[in-house]
Amino acid sequence: MSVKKISKSQPELFEFTKENLMKAEKEIKKYPHEKKASAVLGLLYLAQSQNDNWIPLAAIKYVAKILSMPYIKVYEVTTFYSMFNLSPVGRYFVQVCTTTPCMIRGAKKLTNVCKKYISRNQGELSANKLCSWVEVECLGACVNATMMQINQDYFEDLDENSTEKIIQKLLKDEFPQPGSAKNRKNNSPEKGKTTLLEVKDA
Ligand code: FES
Repeated sequence: MSVKKISKSQPELFEFTKENLMKAEKEIKKYPHEKKASAVLGLLYLAQSQNDNWIPLAAIKYVAKILSMPYIKVYEVTTFYSMFNLSPVGRYFVQVCTTTPCMIRGAKKLTNVCKKYISRNQGELSANKLCSWVEVECLGACVNATMMQINQDYFEDLDENSTEKIIQKLLKDEFPQPGSAKNRKNNSPEKGKTTLLEVKDA
């Protein structure tokens, strides 16, 4: 189960950079004026990218003000979606799926590797501050379980050894090759595809 921690250390102020403000205005214009609150996910995503992948409370207030929404409503959105972090995460943010298909394929072994090499508790930075990890609900790649997401990339068909190699690379500030640890293409059978053989790139 993912734990959403709120950072104890919070910047007092937040505002978009000029460039992000322009992006935010563009996002808001996608919706009718009276429905501008619909841009909340886009604006929170921008705020998070601007702030090293986590959203301070000041940014939640700032987004609420721009969208004329009550602060608590925007706060609820940030706590609902696991894609939003409310405390600092490492440069390499590891999200391990522990929902049923991944769990029965051994997700616990992956979280144990994270506990051993990154931090004892999820949501904490590694000793060198490069990495952090959390458990998350299904990331939609169940057919290639077990899997984890690191920043924007998926790592699939993992076991204890492959996970260990990936985490050790991250801790050395190197980004490993994403995709299947068994070199499966997409989610084809392990021994190669058996149907649609005549279709190129199927
Ligand atoms: S259960 Fe892990 S990706 Fe769906």
